[in-house]
Amino acid sequence: MIALSLAEIAGITGGQSHDIPDSGLKVTGPVVIDSREVRPGSLFAAFAGERVDGHDYAEQAVASGAAAVLATRPVGVPAIVVDNVTEALGALARAVVERLGTKVVALTGSAGKTSTKDLIAQLLERKAPTVWTPGSLNNEIGLPLTALRATEETEHLVLEMGARGIGHIRYLTELTPPHIGLVLNVGTAHIGEFGGREQIAEAKGEMVEALPAADAGGVAVLNADDQLVRAMASRTKARVLLFGEAADADVRAENVRLTGNGQPAFSLHTPTGCSDVTMRLYGEHHVSNALAAAAVAHELGMSVDEIATALSEAGTLSRWRMEVTERPDGVTVVNDAYNANPESMRAALRALAAMGTGRRTWAVLGQMAELGDDSLAEHDAVGRLAVRLNVSKLVAVGGREAAWLQLGAYNEGSWGEESVHVSDAQAAVDLLRSELRPGDVVLVKASRSVGLERVAQALLDHRAEGEVTGR
Ligand SMILES: Nc1ncnc2c1ncn2[C@@H]1O[C@H](COP(=O)(O)OP(=O)(O)OP(=O)(O)O)[C@@H](O)[C@H]1O
Ligand SMILES: [Mg+2]
Repeated sequence: MIALSLAEIAGITGGQSHDIPDSGLKVTGPVVIDSREVRPGSLFAAFAGERVDGHDYAEQAVASGAAAVLATRPVGVPAIVVDNVTEALGALARAVVERLGTKVVALTGSAGKTSTKDLIAQLLERKAPTVWTPGSLNNEIGLPLTALRATEETEHLVLEMGARGIGHIRYLTELTPPHIGLVLNVGTAHIGEFGGREQIAEAKGEMVEALPAADAGGVAVLNADDQLVRAMASRTKARVLLFGEAADADVRAENVRLTGNGQPAFSLHTPTGCSDVTMRLYGEHHVSNALAAAAVAHELGMSVDEIATALSEAGTLSRWRMEVTERPDGVTVVNDAYNANPESMRAALRALAAMGTGRRTWAVLGQMAELGDDSLAEHDAVGRLAVRLNVSKLVAVGGREAAWLQLGAYNEGSWGEESVHVSDAQAAVDLLRSELRPGDVVLVKASRSVGLERVAQALLDHRAEGEVTGR
């Protein structure tokens, strides 16, 4: 974080200083919420959780080098006491970003935010110092913590913004007002909490409403292939830049295909020209993510050749998203257990089929959550697709939804042992351990709540034969 005196921090957050011997004392290190991450000069923000109260660690944080604690009550060590630590962090982030004048790129969408944010980061970093959201820390705490990592050198701040309801994106955009606002897609993630796709679009569209007008440099980057996202053009004063496979997209892909490894390849067109991309990431869904990232990079002055090279070299920065590992015995494990929706299930199965040409392929799949009334049909369709793509073995893991998956496969013509339904992750691991042969390719994918990464980890962990470890 940029150096700020405790007096300045108290001023920005409206807090009261307590136990501060020297008001000139400065915070120079990162702002952290875990006392184990304290570095010299840190500000330790104490949150009172259900099981752990950060205030109990205040003394330890200062002993480890924290300059002060941001807290809701005096803690016997230097502290700035505020009513609400989350809001105080937000105020601090807002003040710091305003002071630095860093270019803010913010993105939201139902699926692919983290993947796309990681691509944007890898593109922009080639141009200038860039700070981005680590992992998926996209809420009212993670966003300020990320923004507060910016320094005088930082030129781009790339921020993932998540929403579970109306007003959430607006709140985040008020903390770190974006210059470029990107909306990826409107899907069905968290549809139960929102009520419907229109409500999700309403919430995600707050991103483009927050942008400056076109003549003040605001740019809305919108998915041309998603009608609800495209329609957001009418909700912004910013200039609109479209990406997608639609013919009228400013940044678009042509000749999209999957290589024999399941990696997408396409010709990238931007207003500066055309260049070929072959990605290192797996699965067709990354084409849309790559185009979104390309649109942002184009807007920030990168040429089509620079963008194509960077997209072809970009890897995964966040875990469990089509993470491909080769075991010493020649078994390939594809861990995509971070999350699942119908679209990414299809993309992952196609990638598995492409990677498994001439090899035995296993799809270890679990429930796709939050599909409401479409759940049965969507699980059935995934089971059928696995058979159509000639996946050698389907292992459906879990309860009712897994049964629907397996039944879809059965009805599409899988027979005997080609598709099986097992009750839990441990049963899947036991089955795979006894059946896998060198050369097999195994895809592991389900919604986050299923926790199937335990299966992938167990397959990769040769030390721990037997037990599936907890999350
Ligand atoms: N463009 C896309 N369209 C549909 N699904 C996608 C897309 N990109 C990624 N996914 C799928 O969504 C899962 C989550 O990806 P990612 O973490 O990038 O999304 P996210 O929007 O950040 O999710 P979260 O809401 O959990 O932060 C991935 O495992 C992948 O299967
Ligand atoms: Mg995310």
